[in-house]
Amino acid sequence: MKNVIAIDGPSGSGKSTVGKALARRLGGVYLDTGAMYRAVALAAKRNGISMDDGNALGELCRSLDLSLQADNDVPRVFLGEEDISQAIRSPEMDMLSSAVSAVREVRVAMTILQRKLAKGALVVAEGRDMGTVVFPGSVNKFFLTASPEIRAERRYRERLGKGEAVSPADVQSEMRKRDRQDSTRALAPLKAARDALIIDSSELTPVRVVEEICRHLKRGQLKVNNLRK
Ligand code: DC
Repeated sequence: MKNVIAIDGPSGSGKSTVGKALARRLGGVYLDTGAMYRAVALAAKRNGISMDDGNALGELCRSLDLSLQADNDVPRVFLGEEDISQAIRSPEMDMLSSAVSAVREVRVAMTILQRKLAKGALVVAEGRDMGTVVFPGSVNKFFLTASPEIRAERRYRERLGKGEAVSPADVQSEMRKRDRQDSTRALAPLKAARDALIIDSSELTPVRVVEEICRHLKRGQLKVNNLRK
């Protein structure tokens, strides 16, 4: 499977920034699978569905009119006609998406949808289980990490930038909790695929990480014509 570049990693590892920039550089489609789980979490909350109710969540996923679009290069998430790109980026949705993503019925539905969305295009797919579960046949797998302090700092700055009144300590403890949930769950836990290249972005700018990825893709793993430089 050569059309999928799989990028996994914990929150704050830089995978969204890098994934978007890489997709732009390669002329590919950016697939933000975290946004998909966030959309499910938002819809579940609005419909009053409990995180324990796997059947109802599965049904919700199958009936969800979810679409990912790019608006002038800015990725947007829609539920029907509604642009939910902002609504899914709250601290509440951070935690609720993590909870909903541990539910089997949700993972099954999202995996099917993600594979469907990746058909036929060059895709940069970003998430927690891209290399291990959704696209195990991809020959281009990357796992981004960064020290917990740096990841928390990035998240803190992001939230400050949105005008939220948060403390660094709160951001760090919420992030720890979410990472623990995501990496210890029974299904598709966050982990690097055995054949993934691990990149520590603690000391690297996003531009450098993209360059590093492109260097590896050029070494012959990615057989597409999109590597311009
Ligand atoms: O990347 P993110 O922070 O937007 O993801 C939100 C949550 O969705 C995250 O806590 C775990 C879950 N997730 C997942 O389980 N599998 C993925 N491929 C992507 C995200």
